[in-house]
Amino acid sequence: MTAEVKTELVAGILTVTLARPDKKNALTNEMYGAIADAIEGASAGNVRVILVQGEGDSFTAGNDLGEFAAQAAGSGPAKRHVERLIHALANTNVPVVAAVQGKAVGVGTTMLLHCDYVLLSEDAQLITPFVNLALVPEAASTYLLPLRIGHARAFEMFAFGAPVSATNALAWGIANRVVPNAELRSEARRIAEMIAAKPSGSVTAMKQLMRDVARLVSQIDAERAIFSQRLQSAEAREAFAAFAEKRTPKFH
Ligand code: COA
Repeated sequence: MTAEVKTELVAGILTVTLARPDKKNALTNEMYGAIADAIEGASAGNVRVILVQGEGDSFTAGNDLGEFAAQAAGSGPAKRHVERLIHALANTNVPVVAAVQGKAVGVGTTMLLHCDYVLLSEDAQLITPFVNLALVPEAASTYLLPLRIGHARAFEMFAFGAPVSATNALAWGIANRVVPNAELRSEARRIAEMIAAKPSGSVTAMKQLMRDVARLVSQIDAERAIFSQRLQSAEAREAFAAFAEKRTPKFH
């Protein structure tokens, strides 16, 4: 249990709210665990829709970089809940709606590729800085992103980690709609209610047919093996130290 992830089940809609706004909802191991619990519980129970959102001005700044630094130094948690969360997202047949404002960094963007309906606010920016951190992309995004937006755009997003605007994310097919910031939460709720009103058995069966879960899981596991090696690299340690010291990393 952590206060930094709030869950609420109302009328078949499980809302999962990232609630660490002072750190741009950067995700700790404990937060990953809480989200994974929620999604696993929803998959096993009678939840009709999962709605993921974040408090404050950013959806999430991705993995907590202090925790990455600890892992790189060999003092991270024995059990990394991020892996459970990514598997839960890949495995769930419950439809997932995401409401994204401000920055969606790292897993904040790659998790959207597992969501079924993505709403962006006008100020949303999708950022995938894995290579800048001397890591590799995860959550099956090395498979899903090129499939979704084409190799050229995916390579550029991954290699440079430059922010992708809401307009481009919509045009490229990463999102369903862009709405004014003030309407994001209410619109996401409305979409979740529309999905929840559909015959749930049909929706979950459709979602299952639309996705090759075995393929996703094999990519997730392949990425994870390389990611774990990269996390221990001198380049990654330099990237995390640079973030903590608010300076540009030096890789040469
Ligand atoms: N891990 C830990 N803390 C983070 C964080 C992260 N991923 N992202 C932001 N924070 C913290 C900052 O250290 C800062 O803390 P402080 O107030 O104690 O100094 C606070 O959140 C606000 O962040 P700040 O950088 O001041 O906000 P910003 O609006 O200028 O920039 C981001 C927002 C998300 C662009 C920027 O914080 C950033 O690049 N974060 C790192 C993202 C990242 O690389 N994630 C890993 C992906 S794999």
